[in-house]
Amino acid sequence: LASLGVRVMGVPMDEQGMQVEEVEKLLAQLQRRGELARVKFIYCTSYYQNPTGLTLSLARRKRLLEIARKFSRKHRILILEDAAYRELRYDGKGLPSIKSFDAHNEYSVLTQTFSKPFAPGLKLGYTVMPQDLLTAVLRQKGNHDFGSANLCQWIALEAMKTGAYAKHVSRLCKHYRRKRDVMLTALQQYMPEGVQWTIPAGGLYVWLTLPAGIKTGPDGSLFEKCLENGVLYVPGEYAYGVDAPRNHLRLCFGQVPMSKIRGGVKRLAEAIRETR
Ligand SMILES: Cc1ncc(COP(=O)(O)O)c(C=O)c1O
Repeated sequence: LASLGVRVMGVPMDEQGMQVEEVEKLLAQLQRRGELARVKFIYCTSYYQNPTGLTLSLARRKRLLEIARKFSRKHRILILEDAAYRELRYDGKGLPSIKSFDAHNEYSVLTQTFSKPFAPGLKLGYTVMPQDLLTAVLRQKGNHDFGSANLCQWIALEAMKTGAYAKHVSRLCKHYRRKRDVMLTALQQYMPEGVQWTIPAGGLYVWLTLPAGIKTGPDGSLFEKCLENGVLYVPGEYAYGVDAPRNHLRLCFGQVPMSKIRGGVKRLAEAIRETR
């Protein structure tokens, strides 16, 4: 987005997901400076976020919608609710979407994809959005990709009609849940003191916070050591704008084979010990 000239402003997270009171503060600040008109939407990954694995709490879902409504006096500020990981749920009953509280379908756009729960190659997704945006969005999408492939849409439809889709999602959840558990158990077993991580209830990611002095970036010795030892992680600084903290990293348990997770975490822990 930044490369398109779009200014992205971030807010901090805690175990309940995005700190929505910080969103409110930010919007109030922009309003005082007369810059609110520049705000187009609030982007939020509401379920098992990439990269932290965190989920926005129920109370915050409702509050975020109130905030969007409150600041939509002169122009509408939408919430873009990216629910890409929603169906990959391993614990609990799952929360209602932000969209479900948007009773008149006015302030939020819900997007979901077949990439995560079914097949990335289909390149299909879907949205529930305010009626008045639909034509503009369809035109824009058509200009970008000339429309989604017809064959892929028929495949997705057929899979849903026959129950193959639901069956596949449930198989994936079972499989990923086991992988997540293997990763969390290995983290517990091998990580040195001072390392913290999130416990995702779904999705594909675990977010690690290392002691402040350890840098996870691509030009640091931890990253190099890990690469030498066949471990690849995403440096946390890529998930921020300027002034990013340098001591975070994202692990993904999605693509890596089950049998390699434990050893990978062990080698990562060794590299952290050595770097320290
Ligand atoms: C939060 C989030 N939204 C959307 C996507 C992409 O979905 P799609 O493959 O449908 O473009 C990703 C992919 O990594 C993601 O992490």
